[in-house]
Amino acid sequence: MKKWFAVIGNPIAHSLSPYMHDYWLSSQNINASYIPIQVEDGKLEQAVQSLKLLSCSGWNVTVPYKEAIIPFLDQIDESAVGIGAVNTVVKTESGQFVGYNTDGLGFIRSLGQTENTNRILILGAGGAARGIVYAFKQLGYQKLSIANRTKTNAEKLVHELQFGQAITFQEAEEQLQTFDIVIQTTPLGMKNNTKTLPINLKGIKENAIVADIVYNPLVTPFLEEAEKYNVRTINGLGMLVHQGALAFSYWNGSYPNTNDMIQRLTEQLGG
Ligand code: ATR
Repeated sequence: MKKWFAVIGNPIAHSLSPYMHDYWLSSQNINASYIPIQVEDGKLEQAVQSLKLLSCSGWNVTVPYKEAIIPFLDQIDESAVGIGAVNTVVKTESGQFVGYNTDGLGFIRSLGQTENTNRILILGAGGAARGIVYAFKQLGYQKLSIANRTKTNAEKLVHELQFGQAITFQEAEEQLQTFDIVIQTTPLGMKNNTKTLPINLKGIKENAIVADIVYNPLVTPFLEEAEKYNVRTINGLGMLVHQGALAFSYWNGSYPNTNDMIQRLTEQLGG
C-alpha cells in the first residue's frame, strides 16, 4: 500500500517541507507522498486521531503545535523530552506513535565540521534556542553562552537544561572575540520584521562561524553585517533541510542528499 506522510501546523501553506520530502521520496523511488495539513485552533487532538486512523506513517509538527502535541502521542523520545517539543512523529512497527525532535541536531549538522571544544554563543532564549542548546549539550560541547534581551529568560534556560551560561547582549559584545560560533535564534531579521541587530559584530574572531536560523530572507540583516568580516556565514536553510533529513531517515531508514536540497531551495527562494 502507498505510504503517506504529512506536516501539521497553522499556518502551513508556506511550508517548504512538502517540496523537500516529495523530492526525496521520488528520488529514492519510495512509493509515498507527503502532504501539508492545516490544523485549526482547538482541533489538534482530532487531527492526531485522524492521522492515526488514516494510517499516516509519520508526520512533522510545526508552529504552534510542537509542545501541544505531546499528550496525544504514545511515547516521547529523549530528544523531545529534553527540548519539551516534538517536530517529528514516527509510527513504529507495533503501531505506536513516537515523538522526536530533530531541530537542534539538524541545526548542528548544518554547521558542517565543528569541534566540541568550540566556544558557542547563542543569541536568544526562546523555543528555537532551547532545541539547539540541548543538542550541543547532548553532543558533549562544553562552552556555551546564551545571550538574551531579557537575561532572566536565559538564566531560566540554563537552569532548566543544566548547561551553559546566561549573559546580556552587552556582555556578549564584550566577549565576542572568544566565540568560535555565533548563532542568531531571535525573530529579528525575519521578513517584515525590524532590521535591528541583536548585537554588534565588531571584534568577531577571524574565521568564526556566524549562523542565523532564519531563512526568509536568505541573507538576514545579521548575516549581511557578518559578511563584512572574515567569517563563514550560514543561513537557516541548512537547519530546515537537516531536520527534515533526520525525520526522513527515521521514517524510511535512508539519509537523503542534503547539499543538493539546500541548493534547490536556495534557487527557489531566489538566492
Ligand atoms: P522561538 O520559539 O521561535 O525561538 P520565542 O520563543 O518567541 O520564539 O523566542 C523569542 C526569542 O527572541 C526570545 O529570546 C526573545 O527575547 P526575550 O526573552 O527578551 O523576549 C527574543 N526576541 C524577540 N523579539 C526580540 C527583539 N525585538 N529584540 C531582541 N530579542 C528578541
